[in-house]
Amino acid sequence: MSLLSTPHLIGIKELSRADIDLIFSTAENFKEVINRTIKKVPSLRDITIANLFFENSTRTRLSFELAEKRLSADIINFSASSSSVSKGETLIDTVNNILAMKTDMVVMRHPNAGAALFLSKHVKAKIVNAGDGAHEHPTQALLDAFSIREKVGDLAGKKVAIIGDILHSRVALSNIFCLQKLGAEVMVCGPATLIPKYVASLGVKVETDLRKALEWCDVANMLRIQLERQDIRYFPSIREYIMQYGLTKEILNSLSKEIIVMHPGPINRGVEITSEVADSSQSIILEQVENGVAIRMAVIYLLAS
Ligand code: CP
Repeated sequence: MSLLSTPHLIGIKELSRADIDLIFSTAENFKEVINRTIKKVPSLRDITIANLFFENSTRTRLSFELAEKRLSADIINFSASSSSVSKGETLIDTVNNILAMKTDMVVMRHPNAGAALFLSKHVKAKIVNAGDGAHEHPTQALLDAFSIREKVGDLAGKKVAIIGDILHSRVALSNIFCLQKLGAEVMVCGPATLIPKYVASLGVKVETDLRKALEWCDVANMLRIQLERQDIRYFPSIREYIMQYGLTKEILNSLSKEIIVMHPGPINRGVEITSEVADSSQSIILEQVENGVAIRMAVIYLLAS
């Protein structure tokens, strides 16, 4: 059973508008809970969740773990670097061994696109995708949209520019699906080499000029250049990238209106965004992190219920 229209959370693509609205209203309740003196509810006392991280993470891993603890679930944590994966064990064998220890739900981050979907078809547990390669990062998109909604209200008609390395970004794809389902207009902006050809077919605007994108949008979501996923060089140098796509306070101040600045983290300060911008009153980066816990509590609670 699940209170959502899907038994797993693999991607935003599979969620309905009603699912997203239910996740948001549930997250609003949980946000109130985590701001109380006693930040815990007994909702999932009989549930055991395995957090499987086959790729590095700070925010998502800690946020899921805290969300599960706030819901009173039992948890086990697994990281690939200290496991028998390095001895050749397959993903299905690894997960089936963890499920044999009577776990109900698996939260998984994996470097390969499709890993979460694959797992959902081969093991008997609810699967939550915590980021699969360059495919989707659904809880990041949900917390991003939830954070925008807190600032500007209904997203219908709002303009969101996603700026940076679109090609290698799971955050970009999940954000596009989520924002469009909520009625927002979406633009992607970056060097032409870092914008995949298929993206225009998703109904988003495409722009290579940072200033034009910033003048158009109400919200700018600045993405990290994912050098670890780049097998070839997509732009001449980091210096050149900063000159064309780095967001500075001077640029922000020169715009005709005040926009909201977001970043999913981890930030490369001084590359896609300066420290002055990251720490400015226009930035909602730490609000995104705070909302991540409430959103993940909502997702786990709704899938487990
Ligand atoms: N935003 C995000 O996914 O950050 P981590 O890689 O630290 O989890």
